[in-house]
Amino acid sequence: MPDAQLFNIVKAIHMITITVTICGFVLRGIWMLKESLLLKALPVRILPHVNDTILLISAVWTATFIDQYPFVNGWLTAKMLGLLAYIVLGAIALSYGRTRQIRIGAFVGALLCFGYVVLVAATKNPLVIWSPADYA
Ligand code: HEM
Repeated sequence: MPDAQLFNIVKAIHMITITVTICGFVLRGIWMLKESLLLKALPVRILPHVNDTILLISAVWTATFIDQYPFVNGWLTAKMLGLLAYIVLGAIALSYGRTRQIRIGAFVGALLCFGYVVLVAATKNPLVIWSPADYA
């Protein structure tokens, strides 16, 4: 299979897992706000980890395809750190936050981190400044 075709497939997997991650997170956030028992259901606790693992593998794979690596390349480092912050805040929001206020604050913070990562992905700039030169 040509490299370009494989890259498009892996990037599509990256996009699908990102969509699943944010939809699942918002849904679990709503359940957290409603204090629903669904949040504790086994599939709800396991499936996000499966999806997130595929997300991370597809992310690293796409990065190696274009010879860019986190901690070498600025925008990928920002994405990696943004993803890490999203995961930590997400865990506080959905499980570890001791008060409702902390959980809601962490939930909003996680959504902001996710939005930042999407903007960094779109601009390929950690400061989220779009530069047409990057696409030349
Ligand atoms: C919450 C986490 C993430 C989100 C929301 C996200 C979002 C995106 C989006 C929207 C794109 C498409 C950009 C475009 O084509 O204009 C993309 C592409 C990409 N992402 Fe991610 N990403 C995440 C995590 C990561 C991580 C952790 C890495 C690196 C280890 C990574 C590496 C890449 C690469 C290499 C591309 C392809 C860039 C290209 O087309 O040249 N992503 N990501």
